[in-house]
Amino acid sequence: MSSRSILVVDNDTVIREYLATFLAARGHAVECLGSGDEAIERLASGFSPLMILLDIVPPDKDGIEVLSNFKSIDPSIPIITLSRIGQIKTVVEAMKIGASGYLTKPFEEEALELEIDNVLEKQRLKEEVKTLKQQLAYIEQGNILTSNPQMLRIIDIARHVAGTDVPVLILGESGVGKEVVASFIHEQSNRSDGPFVKVNCAALPHELLEAELFGYERGAVTSAIRDKTGKFEQADKGTMLLDEIGELSPYLQTRLLQVLQDSEISRLGSKRPVKINVRVLATTNKKLKEAVLKGEFRNDLYFRLNVIKFELPPLRERREDIPLLCNHFLEKYRDRYQSPVRQIPKELMELFLRYDWPGNVRQLENVVKRYLILPDADIISELKTANTEAVAVIPTRTVSLKEVSGHAAEVAEKEVVLRVLEDTGWNRKEAARRLMISYKALRNKLKKWQLVRQRPEVVRALGKSA
Ligand SMILES: Nc1ncnc2c1ncn2[C@@H]1O[C@H](COP(=O)(O)OP(=O)(O)OP(=O)(O)O)[C@@H](O)[C@H]1O
Ligand SMILES: [Mg+2]
Repeated sequence: MSSRSILVVDNDTVIREYLATFLAARGHAVECLGSGDEAIERLASGFSPLMILLDIVPPDKDGIEVLSNFKSIDPSIPIITLSRIGQIKTVVEAMKIGASGYLTKPFEEEALELEIDNVLEKQRLKEEVKTLKQQLAYIEQGNILTSNPQMLRIIDIARHVAGTDVPVLILGESGVGKEVVASFIHEQSNRSDGPFVKVNCAALPHELLEAELFGYERGAVTSAIRDKTGKFEQADKGTMLLDEIGELSPYLQTRLLQVLQDSEISRLGSKRPVKINVRVLATTNKKLKEAVLKGEFRNDLYFRLNVIKFELPPLRERREDIPLLCNHFLEKYRDRYQSPVRQIPKELMELFLRYDWPGNVRQLENVVKRYLILPDADIISELKTANTEAVAVIPTRTVSLKEVSGHAAEVAEKEVVLRVLEDTGWNRKEAARRLMISYKALRNKLKKWQLVRQRPEVVRALGKSA
């Protein structure tokens, strides 16, 4: 039972006592008052009952006036009117100005119980609609679609901290929506009219990244033929998203720490510091705490960035979002790809619900896109393969251990190559370096797998395509 009490307003002591006993016996907390004026005063002082049972035709005061007063103090409190036979006109008037139900004295206990249950049920539905509307509002505001309690809580906190200037660290596996949350924070903040500047710390080699972040003065390096404004300056009065912060070199970690401490930067080749007003958000899919313990990431920088930390759950831990996201992507891309698909077939949706989605929402988005373009493709077996069940796709008749392990390795290899390519913005040289293979070897692999950076539908792999 709810801890909020039911307020009974009736000048008849017998009725008051009867209702108090009746309601208390059903587990409700009850408060009784004998006059409209007392009740108005009580509500005006901030008392918020679960509902009000109001004698609509008291001898001393106009009941309709009391009701209007209640409604103007708090229109959300439901009111059930109590009247006598022959007072139907007043009851109708009361319903018009917002009473939720009515009872005619003398009433049966069942009628009273039913009326109260009806009102409580209506209240519950109203609350539910309100929550659903709030969830829809999130979609409209921030492109974040979710019905998962943990995600909703994160969004709620994100909305609250958006207005402050503290750094926010957003952690989570690849494709879970870290960037979506970061842009939501920017949109909700009072910096939303300012720029939202994104820098991927893993996409550029260390020296280029430094120039990118801080800018340079003409002549700072041989290739610097004119001044260049860095991203920090570009993000002035706005928000800067440092993507993949875990990849920052020790030297740049130190420089970033200085920026956060002093709110100023100096361009390469310049001794003149420039004041900047930037809010920093950072994301990573690395376990940053572990990197700190291993000495790879500065402890003091970690603490600076970690004022507020969001850990976004992977899609497999919020499967309730799968149908929601699926339909969202279906609606979003159907027209663009002029697809005849109207909905995801039941069998496929069931597989989606069971699948583990290592590439999270991005992978789901790509799979839906691909289904829209090629509805006849065998997505079911492809997903099974990608789900590291590679072994299962080799027919047992022809089983050869070498073949099985070779195939499994190739699936895993392809996944890794794709990820690295994506992380480097398809910079093949850099990708080869990180994969510790030659550029030529990488090119051969891409050729063999027919992997090219094209429109997503052409990329056959189901992992992280572009
Ligand atoms: N809750 C969501 N509602 C709608 N779309 C989402 C949601 N989460 C993610 N997406 C979509 O999924 C894709 C991946 O999201 P995002 O880029 O934010 O992931 P990420 O965590 O930053 O990934 P990475 O670690 O690879 O950078 C984007 O296209 C984004 O629009
Ligand atoms: Mg990202």
